Amino acid sequence: MQINISPTKLEVAQIFSEYLEEQIKSNKTTHIALSGGSTPKVVFDYMAEYYKDVDWSTVHLYWGDERCVPPTDSESNYKMTVEHLLSKINIPKDNVHRVHGEDLPELEAERYGKVLEGELPIVNNIPQFDIVILGMGDDGHTASIFPHEIDLWDSKNTCEVAVHPDSGQRRITITGKLINNAKTVAFLVTGNSKAEKVRTIITKEEGHDSYPASLVMPTSGDLIWFLDEEAAAQIN
Ligand code: 6PG
Repeated sequence: MQINISPTKLEVAQIFSEYLEEQIKSNKTTHIALSGGSTPKVVFDYMAEYYKDVDWSTVHLYWGDERCVPPTDSESNYKMTVEHLLSKINIPKDNVHRVHGEDLPELEAERYGKVLEGELPIVNNIPQFDIVILGMGDDGHTASIFPHEIDLWDSKNTCEVAVHPDSGQRRITITGKLINNAKTVAFLVTGNSKAEKVRTIITKEEGHDSYPASLVMPTSGDLIWFLDEEAAAQIN
C-alpha cells in the first residue's frame, strides 16, 4: 500500500492526474473505472484543462458505481463526468461505457456485468480493470457498497443493486471481487470529515472491517491512497 499526501485537494488532483497520464502512456489500452464524488470532480476539471492532449482513444471508461437515475439527472455520475471531462476531451464515443441508470436496476446490474465481462480482459476468471478509482464516504462506504449492505462486497456477481441508507436511492455498483482483481486501485479522499475513517482503516483499528472501504485489498498489492492533509490529519 502507498499513501500519497498532498497539501490541498487541488494538489491531489494534480498529482493524481500526472499519475494517470503516466499509466495511460505506458499501456496500449487502459481500462479505468471512474467514481462519483467531490474529489473526482476536481480531478476531471484538472485533466480537462491540462491533459486534453492525452491520447484518449487508448482509454476506455467505465463506472464503479452509478445512481439509478437518467443520464440527464443532476445526481447522475455519468452526467457529472460529461460536464467536467468528457465534453472537453477527444474520446471516441465507443470508449465510454456508461451504466444505464434509467433502466430497471436488477436488469441493468446484470447487463452492465456482461458489458464488463465482454470488454475487460479476464484474469483469475474475473474481469480486470487497469485502474479502479474509488472515493470513500464519511460512513466508510466505497463504490456504492455501504456498511449496512457490506455483504454485497462478497457477491459472486460482477455488479449488484445497492440502496443508499438515508435516501433509499438505488445504485448499481461493482463488487469486491472486481475491485480486488484490478491491477491498481486508487482511493481519492479529501477533507476533514474523512480523517477519522482514514485513520481507522489505514491503521486497521478495531472495528475497521465493518467499513466496506477497509475491504479494498487488490491481490496485485497495488493500492494507492491519494489524500489531502485534512483527510490524512490523524495518520501523520
Ligand atoms: C457516489 C460515489 C461514492 C463517493 C463517496 C465519496 O456515486 O456517491 O461513487 O462512493 O465516491 O461517497 O464522495 P465524496 O468525495 O463526495 O465525499
